[in-house]
Amino acid sequence: MSSDVKTIKFDALGDHRGSLIALEANKSIPFDIKRVYYIYGTKAGVRRGYHAHKSLEQVLVCTSGSCKILLDNGCEKNIVKLDSPVNGLYVGQMIWREMFDFTPDCVLMVLASNHYDEDDYIRNYDDYCNCLIEPQN
Ligand code: TYD
Repeated sequence: MSSDVKTIKFDALGDHRGSLIALEANKSIPFDIKRVYYIYGTKAGVRRGYHAHKSLEQVLVCTSGSCKILLDNGCEKNIVKLDSPVNGLYVGQMIWREMFDFTPDCVLMVLASNHYDEDDYIRNYDDYCNCLIEPQN
């Protein structure tokens, strides 16, 4: 797995009532959290993502159900299954990602290091590969 991708195991606080996980900026999440969004109600067979970010960092957490994430750094591809709220997946800059195999109950929460900015996206795979070769493009 690329060094710009890593799994993070969160500490679950549990008692007889159930479980609780707290995520804090610059502690369990390795950046200042500027935005949170979540993907849910994903239709069967949908594959989404298909982009990399120039500067954004994210942590993906499957708070319910499961899904799979394809991660590609231009040299190697890995597939990670997220199926527990106890695990986060840190995805750094310039990693191509695709999300698929969402279960009907999947809620994929994403913590992001910046506000939404379409200019930070690379949505074409050829452009992504070119950008890895010539980062100024
Ligand atoms: P999109 O990037 O296509 O989602 P995915 O990466 O899962 O395929 O985003 C879907 C739409 O939502 C698109 O019109 C952009 C918009 N959007 C926002 O307005 N704010 C956000 O924080 C995100 C992630 C997406």
